[in-house]
Amino acid sequence: GEKVSVSILGLGVVGSGVVKLIKDHQEELAHRLGCSVHVKSVLVRDLEKARDITIEETLLTTNPNDILEDPEVDIIVEVMGGIEESFQLILKAFSVKKHVVTANKDLVALHGAELQQAADRNQCDFYYEASVAGGIPILRGITDGLSSDRIQQVMGIVNGTTNYILTKMNNEGVSYENALKEAQHLGFAEADPTADVEGLDAARKMAILGRLAFSTNIDLEEVEVAGIKNLELEDLKYGERLGYTMKLIGFASCQDGEVEVNVQPTLLSKNHPLADVKNEYNAVYVYGEAVGETMFYGPGAGSLPTATAVVSDLVTVIKNMKLGVSGHSTIKPRFKKELKTAEKRMGQ
Ligand code: NAP
Ligand code: HSE
Repeated sequence: GEKVSVSILGLGVVGSGVVKLIKDHQEELAHRLGCSVHVKSVLVRDLEKARDITIEETLLTTNPNDILEDPEVDIIVEVMGGIEESFQLILKAFSVKKHVVTANKDLVALHGAELQQAADRNQCDFYYEASVAGGIPILRGITDGLSSDRIQQVMGIVNGTTNYILTKMNNEGVSYENALKEAQHLGFAEADPTADVEGLDAARKMAILGRLAFSTNIDLEEVEVAGIKNLELEDLKYGERLGYTMKLIGFASCQDGEVEVNVQPTLLSKNHPLADVKNEYNAVYVYGEAVGETMFYGPGAGSLPTATAVVSDLVTVIKNMKLGVSGHSTIKPRFKKELKTAEKRMGQ
């Protein structure tokens, strides 16, 4: 029968989850799509590395051109991370008319608007559900579920690593260093966890959320950020005694066209719904003018939860291909602010 070929850039925590999910859920995918989904090739750095995932060796390559120049590949999944190299690879993918799904919030927060323009220009799809809050379908929640409303505020716990560290410190008295090591071991932390603990990862996700919720371009430099690196166990215990729980909270609001985004450690009353979000779980509270309060909750990091978001994006892209509506992604803000660097960066 008909089959769609997907190639994956990266076979780490998320890439392995994507390979596993496509294999384990092939029946459901075939049923929902009316065609089979198959992994054609996978880009890695090191061919010799021992891997947890069972995969045919012949699928692995260290040369991105093996993937980008393969006419049989319809969709590229970018789960290798980093910024410059993945940016260039995705631009090249669009230029050869391949659709792209990514989990890379660093890249989307910084160059999302330019990438969307490149996708549009080439009638390609560009989806990045996994880039914010792992397995929670929050981008769809905002761009589809709440598309009839005017969103006024988005607030949430959007970094699994720091929430895991704070939970372990608070509830089990584990030291910051040991809790961070556990989060790394479990695959929640970034390759370099500095971005997690300094709040930058959460800031990037809030910039993406704000961009979609308020249809405006958000400059990362305008996001005020403080992380959890300097918090002491004593500070947390003190808060606990007074009935408060320390959480790293991201906040984005829009009032009269003025957008404000920030990330900071916040003492929440224990009655607050976000105070009860534990471990690597995330939660995003969205306030819409008509709907009022909504809350989205689920695993914010980890291999299979994140892979569900990536593979659901694949399902959307394949449905669009079949309907002949590729390049009309619903995840598309109408920018109010001008994109200063877009044309220069694209060299056009
Ligand atoms: P990871 O475990 O470090 O895996 C990265 C993979 O990409 C590895 O297989 C690596 O190859 C490959 N790779 C990296 N740079 C490469 C290069 N220059 N050329 C070829 N291959 C390269 O990372 P991860 O945790 O899966 O994260 C991947 C992306 O998903 C990141 O953007 C991250 O922010 C995002 N994300 C992660 C999570 C999570 O829970 N971990 C959740 C949401 C989003 P080797 O295996 O050969 O070293
Ligand atoms: N390092 C990120 C986190 C992965 O801990 O939330 C999910 O984006």
